[in-house]
Amino acid sequence: MGNLNASVDLRRDGEIAIVTVDNPPVNALKHEVRAGLAEALRQSRDDVAIKGMVIACAGRTFFAGADITEFGKPPQPPGLSEVIAAIEAMPKPVVAALHGTALGGGFELALACHFRVAVAGARVGLPEFKLGLLPGAGGTQRLPRLVGPEKALRMIITGDPIEAREALADGVIDTIVDGDLTEGAIAFARRVVAEGRPLRRVRDRDDKLVAEGFADAAEALTRRLRGREAPAACVEAVRNAIVLPFDEGVKREGELFRKLVAGDQSKAQRHVFFAEREAARVPGIPDGTKPRPMATAAVIGAGTMGGGIAMCFANAGIPVTVVETGRDLLQRGLDRVGANYRATVARGGLGADEMERRMALINGATELDAVRSADVVIEAVFEEMDLKKRVFADLNRVAKAGSVLATNTSTLDVDEIARATARPQDVLGTHFFSPANVMRLLEVVRGAATAPDALATAVAVGRRLGKVPVTVGVCYGFVGNRMLARRSVQAERLLLEGALPQEVDAAVTDFGFPMGPFAMADMAGLDVGWRIRKGRGERDEIEDALCEAGHFGQKTGKGYFRYEAGSRTPLPDPEVERTILDASSRAGIARRAIPEGEIVERMIYPMINEGARILEEGIATRPSDVDVIWVYGYGWPVWRGGPMYYADQLGLAHIRDRLTLYAERSGDDSLRPATRISRLAAEGRGFAS
Ligand SMILES: NC(=O)c1ccc[n+]([C@@H]2O[C@H](COP(=O)([O-])OP(=O)(O)OC[C@H]3O[C@@H](n4cnc5c(N)ncnc54)[C@H](O)[C@@H]3O)[C@@H](O)[C@H]2O)c1
Repeated sequence: MGNLNASVDLRRDGEIAIVTVDNPPVNALKHEVRAGLAEALRQSRDDVAIKGMVIACAGRTFFAGADITEFGKPPQPPGLSEVIAAIEAMPKPVVAALHGTALGGGFELALACHFRVAVAGARVGLPEFKLGLLPGAGGTQRLPRLVGPEKALRMIITGDPIEAREALADGVIDTIVDGDLTEGAIAFARRVVAEGRPLRRVRDRDDKLVAEGFADAAEALTRRLRGREAPAACVEAVRNAIVLPFDEGVKREGELFRKLVAGDQSKAQRHVFFAEREAARVPGIPDGTKPRPMATAAVIGAGTMGGGIAMCFANAGIPVTVVETGRDLLQRGLDRVGANYRATVARGGLGADEMERRMALINGATELDAVRSADVVIEAVFEEMDLKKRVFADLNRVAKAGSVLATNTSTLDVDEIARATARPQDVLGTHFFSPANVMRLLEVVRGAATAPDALATAVAVGRRLGKVPVTVGVCYGFVGNRMLARRSVQAERLLLEGALPQEVDAAVTDFGFPMGPFAMADMAGLDVGWRIRKGRGERDEIEDALCEAGHFGQKTGKGYFRYEAGSRTPLPDPEVERTILDASSRAGIARRAIPEGEIVERMIYPMINEGARILEEGIATRPSDVDVIWVYGYGWPVWRGGPMYYADQLGLAHIRDRLTLYAERSGDDSLRPATRISRLAAEGRGFAS
């Protein structure tokens, strides 16, 4: 009894033993916790005066998972599975007391307890899939026995937790406790003991293990996850729950887990997990720098981005004022926001009352004076330098002292915009991605004069909005779009040299991107770039010819592909093929068949090359920041870890050699390997090591 170690305490309340774990911040099941739990179980089992047991956690949550820093390292006994087996084998009732988020190994531990009670706000789930894994401590065998195989597989493959109320309805938990959780759990345990209720072991249940419909459900859940190893393993494990005896199912689950955890995909996904955390640490912000207080926000411009950004604030419960140039434009912007919310409600993604609450947080105005009290102002007007400078000069006059003034520019010089004010220390970029209310990436652009606490504020705001903020420096296109531009150049050249849009897109989607460059261009619309080029007297052989023939993309039913009415499925278009062949012959290029391998290399390696230059220039802080940007902003397949990680896996000498080859073959010196690649390759190193 007493403190068993620094993380685990065991006490008695009459005939009930209470083990309380306190391992901040999220009670990860690290070695010390497991050892303490095993000892608590042993003492409680051997003490004849103890008739029942409660497992609870201090702090903000029940165990939120295994300690992932231990993954892939030699296991230190007792392992989680041993602790879980000891819980299940206890001859006295064990009650898990859940609050916060019981996730992963934490939820698996709870599933092995004989009873589970929870506070109303608790959530339970198995997020291992998000790291390219499956639940490896019995979760794939126990959860199907409680909720049925189909729902279990859905919970495992989405990784999304469910609320206590739903868990109660499904029979995952036995009761919801009002008032003090531990007291409630002790009272529950006492009742179980007093009533002499039999121990209920999840492993012994099979009433919900129906095979019917499982194969179809599995197919539907995994259809969009091509290229990944974990889905098939999850399906197999859950199917085993139906067809194999429990112990064999657990044994096979362990084998599948060990295979995934040692595999390249899960390693890459764990890299991204840590990279995201690392990105939150911004160099140059002194320790102890506090973000400025942020209670209200304003957005200038109610267009595509302004409306989406306003929704981000409303979704986070932050009042936001949207400023437009006139009543009609304002109304149009707010109507679009309303339509967007209503579509989400119609899909079942949001309650109607919650929609009303969010809409009520968005106020419209046609005078800039309305931003006077905002703590953060985000400008999202047209992409024109003179206009942006005028807006910032006005903001300088109107906005209260200390408010953070941010521009959502995609390409313009944030420092030049900052100089339009007398407070450049308060100015920075917040580069949202479209649709702003959906995309997780936020490039926070640090200007030459940006104050550390202004930067810290922007990062903190990004996190409150549920974004993944990555701090970058000022340059054309910042990190993501600057790299993307290299891919676009190659995509166009591949068409001229012999490829067709469907071949290029197929190579890119086979690599794991959700969409290829030409389907993406069709979605964004080809006409914007065409008008800009015309204004500048520039020409893009293929795209301009397509625009001249009315191919503006999805909006006109034809672009690089054709689209049938009401469909967004890109279909090969013979007319486009003719346009491309003409362009090749005008350019005097003898077309050749281009192998998929070459297409992939020319889509990916020039971006890696640009990423290397970005690192050389200090525009991105670390290679892993570039990876985070590509995973969260551009659909880079997370199981390939991001472009810089991917390059390291292939080896930089290979990247150097291929870039050199492509540079020589095309005469395009921009394809020559960046200094950083050549240097690291010569040293036998990668970006990260
Ligand atoms: N669309 C994208 O995919 C995307 C992505 C990232 C960043 N951006 C950047 O975001 C900014 C906005 O882009 P968008 O696509 O939303 O443009 P948009 O044309 O849809 O909207 C711009 C809005 O700003 C309004 N506006 C113009 N001057 C104003 C002023 N003085 N005061 C108040 N409102 C004013 C316009 O009436 C218009 O409604 C641009 O800088 C763009 O480069 C766009």
